[in-house]
Amino acid sequence: MCGIVGYIGDDRAVPFLLQGLEKLEYRGYDSAGVAIYGGGKINIVKAKGRLSVLAGVLDNNKPLMGTLGIGHTRWATHGAPSDVNSHPHLSENEKFAVVHNGIIENYLSLKEYLGKKGIEFQSETDTEVVAQLLEYYYNGECEGKILDTIAKVMSKVEGSYALGIICEDYPDRIFCVRKDSPLIIGKGDGENYLASDIPAILSRTREIVRIKDKEICVLTKNSMDFYNLDLEPIEKETETIEWDIASAEKGGYPHFMLKEIHEQPDAVRKTVSPRIKDGRIALDEISLTAEKLRNINKIYFIGCGTAYHVGVAAKYTFEKLVRIQTEADVASEFRYREPLLDENTLVLITSQSGETADTLAALREAKKHGSHVISIVNVVGSTIANESDDVIYTWAGPEISVASTKAYSTQLAVMYMIAIYLADLKGAISAEDYDKYMADLQALPEKIEETLRETEKIQYFASKSFNANDMYFIGRNVDYAVSLEASLKLKEISYIHSEAYTGGELKHGPISLIEPGTLVIAFASYGKLFDKMLSNIKEVKARGAVVLGVTTQGRTEIESETDFDFYVPEVSDFMLPSVEVVPFQLFAYYVAAMRGCDIDKPRNLAKSVTVE
Ligand code: F6R
Repeated sequence: MCGIVGYIGDDRAVPFLLQGLEKLEYRGYDSAGVAIYGGGKINIVKAKGRLSVLAGVLDNNKPLMGTLGIGHTRWATHGAPSDVNSHPHLSENEKFAVVHNGIIENYLSLKEYLGKKGIEFQSETDTEVVAQLLEYYYNGECEGKILDTIAKVMSKVEGSYALGIICEDYPDRIFCVRKDSPLIIGKGDGENYLASDIPAILSRTREIVRIKDKEICVLTKNSMDFYNLDLEPIEKETETIEWDIASAEKGGYPHFMLKEIHEQPDAVRKTVSPRIKDGRIALDEISLTAEKLRNINKIYFIGCGTAYHVGVAAKYTFEKLVRIQTEADVASEFRYREPLLDENTLVLITSQSGETADTLAALREAKKHGSHVISIVNVVGSTIANESDDVIYTWAGPEISVASTKAYSTQLAVMYMIAIYLADLKGAISAEDYDKYMADLQALPEKIEETLRETEKIQYFASKSFNANDMYFIGRNVDYAVSLEASLKLKEISYIHSEAYTGGELKHGPISLIEPGTLVIAFASYGKLFDKMLSNIKEVKARGAVVLGVTTQGRTEIESETDFDFYVPEVSDFMLPSVEVVPFQLFAYYVAAMRGCDIDKPRNLAKSVTVE
């Protein structure tokens, strides 16, 4: 996720661009840059680091005076944060400058194609192929026709993009297009604006036009013209924004946590789809040869907090699919317990920030013993990503809320992909199972969307529970893994005491905590153990518990044993945590909201724990 702004008018462009980028820094903040038209050419200034670094360079060394420009704040995807990988990107002869939000999935093949034509690339980014393609087609096949060139490039690139484009030959125009990434136009008086999100332009205008997928917009200071891919003009409606700036930054949501919960379908889609080629998982990031992978005889899953809970779910998944010995551990224990590691051990490290001190120490311990480390990380270029043998990035975009939500969902999706990939490699699953898992994996975003549509039910249950002093989450197998995460979410943001137990452990101690009125949330979706969970539900009901039962659609037998029920869509059983967690992220959120808690910044917690 990155932020784009653009300005065209009579004022100097740089101050507006910097102000707009500041409002978009929540979308990414590892580097920033601007491209300004002036003196007959495109001038670019960009810098690694927060926006203030760019502002400092522009103030001190390189003031740019032009009145047309585009700017970008980056959340690195392809290529670590650096000056050269920052946007805007220029084409080889500096005719085009481009800012981009999204991922060009086929950039490698396009880069190879252009490389064969002698075009040299400066950066490691996917975006640079767009700048190079524009110049290539503009000078060649499209014979200097700018709109034909843009349409041609759109027909070549796959993936998601919002693009702001300027061309040396058009000193009075900004061109913009989008597909699956947001982009809006702001209408001013003798000036017009471009942005990824509304807050960037709210200081100047409340009149906006939303660009839709595969539409092209041409902006001048006094006009905005829209075209479809056949270059036929289209009419667009103007919208008036009524929100204030503070709520707009959260996209209209009252908290980042709620926004991030709702971003999960898209985040999972972006994480999974670039890694599926011709219906098969292509994990190009894994450098181990197939032979070495076949020799792996043990896998450790390591992380902290939510990231550790992903490892617990993965343990069940890998044992079932890959038929391999596994262990899941919290990093702070693993690093000091003298684990048995060698070159046939695979260590899968999970971390949203990529900077968690204990997780990093666990990674170093594993590498010291010659084990291969694959990390699943959200922040590109982070220390864990850099020090791992291989890194598989989750494309969740910046997670601002301290309570992790979309990182968990995307980490799970990556675990499923690795498990299916290894199971297939080892011949541990049949071709039919492979196809079924692939279909379910690709359907996950819609299934998550389905659970989000049940928000009202969850709000109702939250309204019945928010005064509780204690809550217990129970489940078996992956239903236990998700119980751990649901319980953590609740306690960290609502401060209600809560615990998670396996259903089978209840009678070995925890059941003594159940008294009349105690709230128990029972996950009973894992088909094979449904009857066992019904017995556990009966046990706690017999001691007076109030039970919310969670199971898959159609298993209505649960209703006779519980007080409330919640149904989740059917998926392959190891993928259940993905659909079960979402309603309980919402549950924690609404309980915390009803208790008046500071949801995005819970007490005593920090987003990135870089100390032991
Ligand atoms: C819980 C939460 C924490 C993190 C943990 C690991 O909502 O956010 O438990 O999951 O601190 O952080 P990362 O994933 O950055 O290593």
